[in-house]
Amino acid sequence: MSNPGTGAPIASAASPQANVAVPAQAVTYAQQYGVPREATGYSPFKVYAPTGVPKLDEILGGGFLRGKTYLVAGEAGCGKTILSLQFLLHGASLGEPGVYIAIDEPTSQLLRGLRMFGWDVRPLIAERKLLFLDMRTHFSKIYLRDERRKIEPKYVIESILNAAKKIRAKRLVIDPIAPLVYGGKEEDVLYAREFLREMVFAIEKTGELTTIMTSEIPTGSTKLSRFGVEEFLASGIIVLSIEEIDGEIERVMYIRKARWAPVKPSKYIFEIKTGEGIIIRESLSEYLRRIRARR
Ligand SMILES: Nc1ncnc2c1ncn2[C@@H]1O[C@H](COP(=O)(O)OP(=O)(O)OP(=O)(O)O)[C@@H](O)[C@H]1O
Ligand SMILES: [Mg+2]
Repeated sequence: MSNPGTGAPIASAASPQANVAVPAQAVTYAQQYGVPREATGYSPFKVYAPTGVPKLDEILGGGFLRGKTYLVAGEAGCGKTILSLQFLLHGASLGEPGVYIAIDEPTSQLLRGLRMFGWDVRPLIAERKLLFLDMRTHFSKIYLRDERRKIEPKYVIESILNAAKKIRAKRLVIDPIAPLVYGGKEEDVLYAREFLREMVFAIEKTGELTTIMTSEIPTGSTKLSRFGVEEFLASGIIVLSIEEIDGEIERVMYIRKARWAPVKPSKYIFEIKTGEGIIIRESLSEYLRRIRARR
């Protein structure tokens, strides 16, 4: 299996830092802005979890801050699931197990789709580097057993943390986050916000898990999330979209927020490649300069 995003062979778990390139400038910034670091032996790899998209890691100064939560938002079909799985596959290649909480799609269907994409994750599941938890099936079993009419946040949180513990996970994906809010009525936004706050707090409290939660943006909406709190809980926000730029339809990644990283809000053109996943080609401004020079 090749490394998502680079096509390079996956590094062995024994040498987790083998293929992680972090610009020297990132260290200065992290130090300057007081990113938590070890009292001795500071290393960017300890602070940042590389995402599996090399250019994104470069932009973020090394990747996602370890132990923090990131929001990947976008309209349907923009690549949220592919980016999330790329993050987990890259983690697995570095010896960092990951849990994927499937909500919309049954796991079996997802695994079939991934195989078609060139990512056969069955060996990683067998090695306990990846664990897929089908939330709907999981909770329908609880319904049957305990006849609970409402699923309390603590059960959802407990299930996620238990799954993570099972494989000593370092990475977690909840894709998408909004339907996890069981029990509250759809319009009960305050309930949902409290639920999500409690959940992110509990996950981050473990100090073990770097998390991606995805959120679906309805077509044409300017919102980033269903309940309007997800973006505040996240340490960073990546918005994926498909845009028409100078008459061409392109995939665009917008790095909208990145706490403690030297990133000004910026857009990048990316593509999705079978077996490799998301590859950032260039910044939107470079792209515009290039295509306009051609005309
Ligand atoms: N083999 C492939 N090669 C290139 N692009 C692909 C391939 N397979 C899927 N895609 C693209 O990836 C997109 C789906 O990505 P993904 O499932 O990650 O989107 P999503 O944002 O999670 O969507 P949803 O909101 O429906 O869950 C498709 O719309 C398609 O354009
Ligand atoms: Mg998806």
